[in-house]
Amino acid sequence: MKRVEIGKLEDFREGAIHGIDVDERKLIVVNLEGELHALDGICTHEYAELGRGFLTGDTVRCPLHFSQFDVETGEAITTPAEEPLEKFRVEVEGESVYLLLD
Ligand code: FES
Repeated sequence: MKRVEIGKLEDFREGAIHGIDVDERKLIVVNLEGELHALDGICTHEYAELGRGFLTGDTVRCPLHFSQFDVETGEAITTPAEEPLEKFRVEVEGESVYLLLD
């Protein structure tokens, strides 16, 4: 398990999708009511960066064909995407935010 610092709490404000690059992977971080969720940043349908997508409540919408994903589970809620987004564990220590990678 690898632990990578991805920023400070203040970097991940609510109401936005934060695209980050970690180990050459594109991920997204979403702050839902103070809880940070980190997910794969590439849609499971085709290649589209979810960091350029849209956040509505607790779902992220792909900017290409508009599939929606549940931020808390990664599940694809609407087609054409069917596979879930991978989720990653986030740890907050003081003001620092860490991501846990396998
Ligand atoms: S690339 Fe995301 S729904 Fe098609």
